[in-house]
Amino acid sequence: MSLLVPRFPDWRPRRLRRLPALRQLVRETELRPDDLVLPLFVRPGQGIRREISSMHGQYQHSPDTLVETAAQAWELGIRAVILFGIPAHKDEVGSAALDEAGIIPQALHALKRHLPELLVITDECFCEYTSHGHCGVLSEHGGRLDVDNDRTLEMLAQQCIVHARAGADVVAPSGMMDGMVAAIRRALDSAGFSHLPILSYAAKYASAFYGPFREAAESPPQFGDRSTYQMDPANAEEALREIALDLAEGADLIMVKPALAYLDILRRAKESFGVPLAAYNVSGEYAMVKAASARGWLDERRIVLEILTAIKRAGADFILTYHALDAAKWLRG
Ligand code: PBG
Repeated sequence: MSLLVPRFPDWRPRRLRRLPALRQLVRETELRPDDLVLPLFVRPGQGIRREISSMHGQYQHSPDTLVETAAQAWELGIRAVILFGIPAHKDEVGSAALDEAGIIPQALHALKRHLPELLVITDECFCEYTSHGHCGVLSEHGGRLDVDNDRTLEMLAQQCIVHARAGADVVAPSGMMDGMVAAIRRALDSAGFSHLPILSYAAKYASAFYGPFREAAESPPQFGDRSTYQMDPANAEEALREIALDLAEGADLIMVKPALAYLDILRRAKESFGVPLAAYNVSGEYAMVKAASARGWLDERRIVLEILTAIKRAGADFILTYHALDAAKWLRG
């Protein structure tokens, strides 16, 4: 893109800002409800709507109340949700994640029965299912306990097949295991799901912004942190290599996460690859806005729409955000 030099030395940019209709006419980025994906937390039970204390306005649902919230989203013009499951039991290997009657299959069945057109994305990871809170199976390497990449790949592939059979429309692996997209693609294809797209959390950083999510999903790591698999916030070139690798392995959609502190990565990803790109406006970003708004320090409506528009302007085609319901309401006026 070339920078346009004003044709007249007296070019006055304010001329195009004087009238609301004129500003609307020259607006470059438009945010719409169907750009937004609503993340939802689901746990076993009935009639549950348990507020997450660090994320005001967000809840752990049981499958029945999950359907109510998803229906509300659909009414507001949101067309997609992403599901995170909190199982009844956790163990060392996260076996509840592979249960055909587990919490995500239950949620998928309920959603598909009541809202057949709603796009349901499933997060594919083990941290909610393991007793130690790490994103896969552990084993010892050189005296250190760490997530075993290749054993986790096999389990991830199985988890995706379980979700595909239960009706998932898109699978979204978030564990940052090497080779996860290729392993999942191969497994889905041989199980008859070659039509199912993969949304890869390709550039996912080891971020403190995930704090509130770990309360919501009851998934904090019980020892250490996730920096042996998630990316170092200092690295940008590496994010581009991660994305290239996932595309080569067959990813259909790519994600950058978190969003706000990583707008440069979004922009570079969009310019380098031009593929459909998602941004995850994560739990900590949401919590900051909610906390400041509750004190009257920020105007919540204006700040949320500004943030989401900026994420889209930076290069995101769609945005996973806990603000989705509110933003969709505000966008409709
Ligand atoms: C699971 C996962 C996490 C998030 C999405 N998927 C947590 C983590 O990596 O610790 C974070 C989402 C958010 O903070 O809103 N691996």
